[in-house]
Amino acid sequence: MKEIWARTTRTLWRLFALVLLCFIALQLYFVIRVAMMIVVDPQSTTFQRSEAWRLLTEKHEIAWSQKWASYDHIATPLKRAVIAAGSARYAVHRYCPHQGADLTEGWVEGGHLLVCPRHRWQFDLEKQGRCTLNSSSLCAERLPDNVEPLPGTVRKVEDQPQPLVALNTAS
Ligand code: FES
Repeated sequence: MKEIWARTTRTLWRLFALVLLCFIALQLYFVIRVAMMIVVDPQSTTFQRSEAWRLLTEKHEIAWSQKWASYDHIATPLKRAVIAAGSARYAVHRYCPHQGADLTEGWVEGGHLLVCPRHRWQFDLEKQGRCTLNSSSLCAERLPDNVEPLPGTVRKVEDQPQPLVALNTAS
């Protein structure tokens, strides 16, 4: 009986050590993967891969292609967007600092809070686009009132949950 108990205890300790080792190895993998992004560009994101898998399983095709480009090589109009909040217009980072949702698909609440369509973070356009939950920011700049955007590039959103002000891009 004593021997069975000792063997069981030993097995449990080995199991615990194995789980701990797996946990440490996984954390190490993440650290190395993130560190490697300094020298090796990531070719896709988890979101892109999961969307590709969803399209593949649901529609049996992937109707898009992608190619990695460093931030410096992305045209400014793709990085910035103009958001109309009431009568004011703001140039902001187009993609959410949380997980990169396209903010031109969000909406404006209360006349000055730009809401991300994915997880509903809010960015105060009157406070340089600062997030109301944390210290991230869209670097919002209010555009002069006398600057008229190109016709058809701005859709004004008066207020509350109307689908956004998806506008065009700004430099
Ligand atoms: S992607 Fe915008 S809040 Fe998550």
